[in-house]
Amino acid sequence: MFRWVVKLRGLRIRNLVMAPPGIAALRVFLWTVFRAANFLYLPVFVTRIFHRATPCPPIENDILLLTAVELAEKIRKRELTCEAVVKAYIERVKEVNPIINAVIEDRFHDALEDAKEVDRFLSNTLMTTEEIEEKKPLLGIPLTVKGSIEVEGMKNTSGVVSRANVIAKEDAIIVKSARDAGAIPILTSNIPELCLNWESTNKLVGTTRNPHNTTRTVGGSSGGEAGLLATAASIIGVGSDIAGSLRLPAHFCGVWGHKPTPRVVPFAGHYPSCKNEDEWREVFTLGPMARYAKDLKLLLKIIANPEAKETLRLDEPVALEDLRIYYIEDLESILTNKVSSVCLDALHSVVDHMNKLCHVECEKAKIPLLKYAPEMASLVLLDIDDVDNLFVGRGDGSYAELFRYFTFRSKSVFMAIAYGVVRKLSKYIPNSTVEDCRKKLSEMKAELIKMLGDNGVLLIPTFPTEAHPHGDILRKVLDSGYCVIFNAFGLPVTNCPVKFSKNKLPVGIQVVSAPHNDRLTLAVAAEIEKTFGGWKPPQPREKACY
Ligand SMILES: *[C@@H]1O[C@H](CO)[C@@H](O)[C@H](O)[C@H]1NC(C)=O
Ligand SMILES: *[C@@H]1O[C@H](CO)[C@@H](O)[C@H](O)[C@H]1NC(C)=O
Ligand SMILES: *[C@@H]1O[C@H](CO)[C@@H](O)[C@H](O)[C@H]1NC(C)=O
Repeated sequence: MFRWVVKLRGLRIRNLVMAPPGIAALRVFLWTVFRAANFLYLPVFVTRIFHRATPCPPIENDILLLTAVELAEKIRKRELTCEAVVKAYIERVKEVNPIINAVIEDRFHDALEDAKEVDRFLSNTLMTTEEIEEKKPLLGIPLTVKGSIEVEGMKNTSGVVSRANVIAKEDAIIVKSARDAGAIPILTSNIPELCLNWESTNKLVGTTRNPHNTTRTVGGSSGGEAGLLATAASIIGVGSDIAGSLRLPAHFCGVWGHKPTPRVVPFAGHYPSCKNEDEWREVFTLGPMARYAKDLKLLLKIIANPEAKETLRLDEPVALEDLRIYYIEDLESILTNKVSSVCLDALHSVVDHMNKLCHVECEKAKIPLLKYAPEMASLVLLDIDDVDNLFVGRGDGSYAELFRYFTFRSKSVFMAIAYGVVRKLSKYIPNSTVEDCRKKLSEMKAELIKMLGDNGVLLIPTFPTEAHPHGDILRKVLDSGYCVIFNAFGLPVTNCPVKFSKNKLPVGIQVVSAPHNDRLTLAVAAEIEKTFGGWKPPQPREKACY
């Protein structure tokens, strides 16, 4: 709680004001705001004493423990009926959702009909199992879909109260691709209002809770997905990432999330979107989430653009021992919190393992300007015009809405309103400063890409800490910088769960590569899963630590 005092003592003026010159003042301002925010939290800390965690029931159906790759094979070979699989997942969702509150809307009835259709198809078809695998690699696999991705006939609300009755007219392209490959969407999962937060809360569905400890957040914005995957109520899902949304929830919930190279996965059918599509495509992407690492690749192959499938060469084997591995322990930005010992420990464990495996020892990456990247990346993302938000088409009512919020009359959550306010304030930042940030970021990007080359990966924490109690994100907003910088750089990243903290909360690391080398991060993810065990079910308190 009093970390800011320590920070104050450790504060070096040089760090605050070093180049680029334009944002020095901004840095001092932000630093002050975030230190002050800690004070405002005192009353919140007191109320937390009374919160208790509710455990999720243990997983009893073994079907829920098979990977999507295994499930698809068993369904194809008629060793399991699709109906049994879909039923198992529906039952599990019904069991855990009252505890974690991760579902916006289900289509259980239709999903069961789809499942029976698959079983009928399998009992009549003359196709061989190889042909089925080739044409319908996801046949019969239940799929969960982040609530901001459109599914025909389901709500298209993105957590906004005034959109409560808006229904999507068609599937997003990636949902359609997954269905064509045989997957069966079973529900849409909860998100923050308009995806504008790193915790999943809105006034239509409420707050999604972390199954590892329900007093903590699942993260955001693909938080419902991560919560369901972590409780074995989903096996694969699709999400989106503009500022860590595929990776941070995966880190907080102990599952896998992959942010693909920009432009690899078509994004049509996501709300919110942006009119400035060219800029948007570079930083925003849809992508796969999964409970088991190897299922990421299975799903990515299906949702990627046909052209991208060739450049990605996802089936090409990766020689792990030839990889060049770089790592960063801490960005050492004065605006982010120090990386906690458990997150450092996760990183070091992977570094140690890779040192044994690879011919060349892992090397600390040296990119001095990177410590300024979180605020530069945030500023550049904030500068993108015409992103759908609460105030689009309504004039600019952000200050009025903020006033309504503080007088308990708003139907929106704080972060969604704050986005409007911060965007408005950001207009006072001189254009030259934003340009300066853009320039510095592209220099760093070039440096990173050169360093990584065609066989390099970078290991870096996903976030400085394990999942925090609901609401704490306000005083940790720039900690999201660990994720956000890779949106600004446009690099592919996989979040890999590595360890559990002494509070039995999962922590992960990000594995980053140069553009179109997604297969490298996925191969390292598979190795991490093999070595460290990957996903594990939430543990009741009495049981021993891992
Ligand atoms: C969902 O809502 C958005 C915003 O109103 C709209 O642009 C989009 O076309 C809708 N999607 C579908 C599939 O109906
Ligand atoms: C930045 O540039 C835009 C046009 O490109 C202009 O409308 C705006 O006033 C400028 N802002 C500042 C603070 O200089
Ligand atoms: C859950 O987290 C809270 C802090 O948010 C902590 O006080 C509590 O002991 C944790 N509960 C369990 C069951 O680990």
